[in-house]
Amino acid sequence: MQSETVLVVGSTGNIGVAAVIGALRAKRSVLAIVRKKESAEKLFKHVGTKEGITVVEADLTSETGMLRVVKDVKAGKLPAFQHVYATGSDLRDTNICFNEVYLNLRVEVDESAKQNGVSKASDFAECY
Ligand SMILES: NC(=O)c1ccc[n+]([C@@H]2O[C@H](COP(=O)([O-])OP(=O)(O)OC[C@H]3O[C@@H](n4cnc5c(N)ncnc54)[C@H](OP(=O)(O)O)[C@@H]3O)[C@@H](O)[C@H]2O)c1
Repeated sequence: MQSETVLVVGSTGNIGVAAVIGALRAKRSVLAIVRKKESAEKLFKHVGTKEGITVVEADLTSETGMLRVVKDVKAGKLPAFQHVYATGSDLRDTNICFNEVYLNLRVEVDESAKQNGVSKASDFAECY
């Protein structure tokens, strides 16, 4: 059976990296939104693999950004997704329903999480 796919918004950030790691650990594939191609390399480095990750360039603040992603999914150019993990998106004024997580801790990609009290993205990945 083909694995389910998670669309991850903000995938190159501290929380996004945790979301990608969590999805892969749960045996899901990832469709990762990045703003620039170069960011994809940053994502692969922090996650530690390219396997199971499809990257798509999109700026979600542009009117056509997400629309193009959905059109490419419909056209079969990108994998269909069953879940969305959005980090940092403000969706309060839309009709999209999300389970939101409010953090009272600081998460950073493993390479940067050296200070006391800062959680590693690979540990926070358990939440996903
Ligand atoms: N880290 C924490 O512990 C923590 C705690 C509480 C709350 N939060 C909140 O959680 C959110 C994410 O935090 P973070 O630490 O992961 O932030 P971050 O490391 O700065 O990452 C932000 C992510 O959002 C992407 N992004 C920004 N604007 C975008 C746009 N217009 N279109 C597409 N992607 C866009 C960035 O992509 P690029 O790589 O292209 O820049 C990056 O992947 C923030 O709202 C933050 O305030 C974080």
